[in-house]
Amino acid sequence: TKTYDIAVIPGDGIGKEVMPEGVRALEAASQLFDFNLNLEYFDFACAEYYQQHGKMLPDDWFEQLEGFDALFFGAVGLPDVVPDHVSLWGSLLQFRRHFDQYVNLRPVKLMPGVASPLAGREPGDVDFLVVRENTEGEYSSIGGKMFEGTERETVIQETVMTRTGVDRILKYAFNLAQDRPEKHLTSATKSNGISITMPYWDERVKAMQSSYPEVDVDSYHIDILTANFVMHPDWFDIVVASNLFGDILSDLGPACTGTIGIAPSANINPEGTFPSLFEPVHGSAPDIAGQGIANPIGQIWSASLMLDHLGERDAAAAVLEAIESTLATGELTPDMGGSATTDSLGSAVVRALSA
Ligand code: NAD
Ligand code: IPM
Ligand code: MN
Repeated sequence: TKTYDIAVIPGDGIGKEVMPEGVRALEAASQLFDFNLNLEYFDFACAEYYQQHGKMLPDDWFEQLEGFDALFFGAVGLPDVVPDHVSLWGSLLQFRRHFDQYVNLRPVKLMPGVASPLAGREPGDVDFLVVRENTEGEYSSIGGKMFEGTERETVIQETVMTRTGVDRILKYAFNLAQDRPEKHLTSATKSNGISITMPYWDERVKAMQSSYPEVDVDSYHIDILTANFVMHPDWFDIVVASNLFGDILSDLGPACTGTIGIAPSANINPEGTFPSLFEPVHGSAPDIAGQGIANPIGQIWSASLMLDHLGERDAAAAVLEAIESTLATGELTPDMGGSATTDSLGSAVVRALSA
């Protein structure tokens, strides 16, 4: 039997509450599908670690984590204690960049039993995949501040798009589209207003398209694209986007499925040079932390994505089926309109998995 070495990093707030549910689902899957898990817990990448050490991560975090088969992450951020740009740039964004996890896959699916805020929408109407560029674009640390403290105070931050960086995310998205029955890819752009990087993005989409004649490609400016997510979610299959646009679309998409609390993500280094990282889309939700009511599905579904990535396809599919069948029974946390707790919903998924 295979053994997978998994680094578990719960983080802050509800990250610490939903992580145990993700782990329970993983452990149940390992028994049912006959593989072993070697879980190692890390207490860095959280506000408490910052308070003790003055930084989010130990200096040798890369060496500590690089040998794992995958990283299972909760959520980080406690803005009353550490400014968000410090906690996020000091942890999660370092993982994504140093482990070259340039693909951020974020499935969006309206589940049976969960009400969409979009009138008349049913499961099947909202079912697509946001493919987010995850290492460059609008997320850069290049820029600076001038004339600080004066009327002329000026801040500048650059967007970075490299040919390698743009082409590799587009190629990944085109390959996914090619393998799906619909073979339909939507590109998020803003080449009317952002006059250098976004026309370049469009140009690379066109260039890539010539290698994928079967894929039907369309492109929307981000403003109308967000409107179309709400008005016509059924139009979308694979949606490829730059780092910031992908971030926005991957909260909006799940909101159209009733809650961001169920949304999972896979931060993938496709070459396998470095470990990939699996985490819910949502953050640490300080507003509900400590109440035991956080929706654990984003974490559990991320466990399913991790199992799929590790090659445990049957286990991954079984976890997703357990999620779907459990939600259909009406076991819903308050964000989905119910009164279930993190624990009761997590337990119900494990029961469904073992049934
Ligand atoms: P958030 O996702 O933490 O919360 C937004 C809203 O959604 C809140 O009202 C919250 O209660 C609700 N929510 C989120 N997840 C939920 C769940 N599982 N169940 C029920 N309700 C849920 O976003 P935010 O408020 O913008 O950020 C809070 C903190 O989290 C900040 O420090 C932010 O930087 C950080 N953050 C971290 C990550 C990450 O670690 N990947 C992602 C997003 C935000
Ligand atoms: C996400 C989060 C992060 C991002 C933040 C917390 C830096 O919003 O994973 O979607 O913007 O990538
Ligand atoms: Mn986000």
